[in-house]
This record gives sequence, C-alpha cells and structure tokens, in this order.
Amino acid sequence: MNTREMFAKAVAGGYAIPAFNFNNMEQLQAIVQAAAETKSPVILQVSKGARNYANSTLLRYMAEGAVAYAKELGWEHPQICLHLDHGDSFELCKDCVDMGFSSVMIDASSLPYEENIALTKKVVEYAHQFDVTVEAELGVLAGVEDEVSAAESHYTKPEEVIDFATRTGCDSLAISIGTSHGAYKFTPEQCTRDPKTGRLIPPPLAFDVLHEIEKKLPGFPIVLHGSSSVPQEYVDMCNKYGGNLPNAVGIPEEQLREAAKSAVCKINIDSDSRLAMTAAIRKHMAENPSHFDPRQYLKPAREEMKKMYIHKIVNVLGSDGKAE
Ligand code: G3H
Ligand code: 13P
Ligand code: ZN
Repeated sequence: MNTREMFAKAVAGGYAIPAFNFNNMEQLQAIVQAAAETKSPVILQVSKGARNYANSTLLRYMAEGAVAYAKELGWEHPQICLHLDHGDSFELCKDCVDMGFSSVMIDASSLPYEENIALTKKVVEYAHQFDVTVEAELGVLAGVEDEVSAAESHYTKPEEVIDFATRTGCDSLAISIGTSHGAYKFTPEQCTRDPKTGRLIPPPLAFDVLHEIEKKLPGFPIVLHGSSSVPQEYVDMCNKYGGNLPNAVGIPEEQLREAAKSAVCKINIDSDSRLAMTAAIRKHMAENPSHFDPRQYLKPAREEMKKMYIHKIVNVLGSDGKAE
C-alpha cells in the first residue's frame, strides 16, 4: 500500500510509522516478524545502495514475498509499503514506480531551492499517475545521504514549506531539525557528558523548528531521517568483541517519542539495525570460533534485530496495534 492512509492515521493518532531499511533476507524477516507480532504498519525502505548490493529485482520480489510471509504469520491484513529511500534522480524514481514500489522519495535537498521544486514536481507528476506517494526533502542533514553530502546541517526553513509543498504536490516532507545519518551523529565536542556514566549526551533536536513547520502546514505528514538512537549496548558489544566504534552516538529515544506525537509520521531507522546485527554476529563469532555455517551466526543476529524493531515500534513510535 502507499503511505497516504498510513500517514493520515498516524498524524491524527499521534504516533509514527517505522521506516526500516533492508538489504538482505535476515533484516527483512526480522522486520516482518516484528511488524506482524505487534500489528504495526511498516515501511520497507530500499536505498540506491541496497539496490546495487542486492539487486533491484530481487529486493522488489522479496518485498512482495514479505506481504505473503506476513499473512502466513497470522497477520490477516498486513499494512506494508515498499518505499525507495533517497532517490537521487527522476530515472531512479521512475524505475521504482514502474517496478511496483508503492512510494518513492526524491531527495533533491542538495539542489538549489527552485531545482529541488522542479525535480520533485516532475517525480510527483509521474508517480501520482500510478497512485504512488512521494516523499520530498527540504533542508539538508549533516553527514552523508547516500551520495548527497553536506558538511553541516542546514535546518529546514519554516517559511519555505508552504510554497514547497504546494508547488511540488509532494505527499510528505522530510525535514532537517538536527538528526543525521549513520552511527556518529554528533562529535564529542557537540555533546556534553553524563558525569556518572561518562556517556555522550547529544544536543537536543530543534523542536522549535518542527513546531513552526507544523503551524505552517497543519496535519501535513512530516518525516525524520537519521533517527537511529545508536543503542550503547550494541556499541559496547561491538567494541567488546573486536569492533572499533569510538564515540558512536545517536538521537535519544525520548526525543523521538516526542517527535512521534507530532506531525512527524515516518521515522527512518537503518543504523540501529546494522549495529544490532553486527553486535550479535561479533559476539557469536567470538564465543563460537568453530562455527562456519552462516545460519549459526545469522540466527542470533536476526533475533537481536527483531527485538530492536519491536522495541522501536512499541516503546518509541507507538505504532503497535495500528494495523489490526
Ligand atoms: O539514509 C541512508 C540509509 O541509511 C541507506 O544507506 O545508502 O548505505 O544503503 P545506504
Ligand atoms: P539512520 O542512519 O539514523 O538509521 O537513518 C536512516 C535513514 O535516514 C534512512 O533514510
Ligand atoms: Zn535518510
């Protein structure tokens, strides 16, 4: 399904839909099991990098298989959307629409304002013919967005959002309020330290900017990228078993919980899945040096991801029970 109804209900209900990236079968199994057990609507996201890694046709059919699998798990009416994450050209978006994706993102946020509008509008005009919803982005996140890079974060300008949404006709808008991609969202210099634990405490998100945007576009679906919380238990587990992830830090879950109650109705999480999987694999390999059957270490990795996805759905986004 596309995101239209999912988002309308999420905005009205004060919760957010999880948008989880997948690149392989184990991630997809964990996502579908978590969504089916909690009866949560879910967005399966495929990036350009994922298409290059796993093959675009295979991923598309895996998503179709995910719907059948969800039913097999006893979820009678699965609410699953297949979404292109960070599409960077009209051609890529068109390819996904033509393949049967139900939603696409055109990320032209690195382009000048008028060029962002022109490209987004072109994608919207094409996608809407097939009832495919379109996410656009205004404002630039710090760090790397696939091949879109920016040295620093440029918050979305609330004074631009009405003009942008009206002229492009986009269905949802990704905004920049201080989140960023990856496991290193802030430098230690940008953080304070908890005196008791010595852990980094990140600076707060710009909720004032979010609220200004909400006032300008009442009820319009807002998206947060870069919303992994980088659980320190996974960072510690990686580091304990041979990893090296110094000062990895994410967005505190209390802030995401607060955002989910607002017009933010889609929250993107990828890095936390990578951390859960890697932490579990590192632990398993360290404790079982004789194992060489991938199923032996991918099974606990899948279990750890599923646990993490359920936690996000139930305790952070509040989307459980919304797709009974
Ligand atoms: O926002 C980016 C997503 O985490 C996808 O990352 O391009 O490495 O697949 P990727
Ligand atoms: P994280 O790197 O914080 O998981 O963000 C993922 C994302 O925004 C995918 O588009
Ligand atoms: Zn993103």
